Amino acid sequence: MSSLDLIKAPIIEELKRFEPVFKSSMKSNKKLLNIIINYIVKSKGKQLRPTIVFLTAKMLGEINKSTHHAAALIELMHTATLVHDDIVDEANKRRGAFSINALWKNKVSVLVGDYLLAKGLLLAVDNDEFDLLRIVSLSVKDMSEGELLQIEKSRKLDITEDIYFEIIRKKTASLISSCAAIGAKSVGADDETVEKMKLFGENLGIAFQIKDDIFDYQNNKIIGKPTGNDLKEQKLTLPVIFALENSTNSEKRKIINIIKNHNDEAKKVKQVIDFAVKNNGLEYSTNKMIDYKNRAIKILAEFPDSEAKTALLNLSEFVAERKK
Ligand code: IPE
Ligand code: IPE
Ligand code: MG
Ligand code: MG
Repeated sequence: MSSLDLIKAPIIEELKRFEPVFKSSMKSNKKLLNIIINYIVKSKGKQLRPTIVFLTAKMLGEINKSTHHAAALIELMHTATLVHDDIVDEANKRRGAFSINALWKNKVSVLVGDYLLAKGLLLAVDNDEFDLLRIVSLSVKDMSEGELLQIEKSRKLDITEDIYFEIIRKKTASLISSCAAIGAKSVGADDETVEKMKLFGENLGIAFQIKDDIFDYQNNKIIGKPTGNDLKEQKLTLPVIFALENSTNSEKRKIINIIKNHNDEAKKVKQVIDFAVKNNGLEYSTNKMIDYKNRAIKILAEFPDSEAKTALLNLSEFVAERKK
């Protein structure tokens, strides 16, 4: 059994019930849409977000209908934003298969993303889950702001470490934070507990995105999405930000020039990767990631021991050690 399967074990029955609900929440009676939805359903992801929703709920109370609504809504929003993100990043692979934009082009992908977002809204409204809708909408707003800030910085190439953290807090940690918050809220946890779990999710989400950004510097088929894509898109992430902050002005100019003017030349991009590695960018990023993971774990330590808590602790370790 993989470590992820072990993490999911305490909530496996819940995930089994979640699966058909999630699938049917995306369904359409329009032919093209259904072909694409079936394609999305076939290549499912790690389902970390619903796992966090269920485990948090189980740690703090009894999983119920609202917990299930939350898990489905969040995975829907996640899926929609991935469809849009691959258009923005011009990425042709996702989950080991061609991305939607690679197969159906941008026009169709924009609309499929919109469709999924609308299905998410309906799922919440049809079930009178307005607290849930507010929390998740705020995160989706954060995600858009984060992605837009990222684009702004990739145009100016003037990103700092502080802004990097602002970007990843918004584009990734916000939704993961909502998973833990809403999991807690769904079982009637008090405000203080909800806040604690929100902070747990935020720290975990930051660690999660740093790991994802480290992936982009590595070559591994298991990841299932393109590597080296961030630099191609002029997206400066922590490894290279750190390296740039710790290099001479002439080195800095040389690297920025490559990213600006030669980002489509594999050999030149390799020079940037080597530069980041040589200047300890990966080491620094890994340490930061571990630091955030440990902050998450420290928050969990405040709760009484249980099977679900152990699984959340293991999930935190998984985020830092994962291969995809
Ligand atoms: C990918 O998230 C998007 C990021 C925030 C880096 P996941 O790695 O959780 O994607 P799937 O759902 O498992 O494919
Ligand atoms: C995270 O950023 C994407 C979202 C939050 C939607 P990335 O662009 O780094 O994610 P991947 O690497 O494409 O999954
Ligand atoms: Mg992307
Ligand atoms: Mg990435």
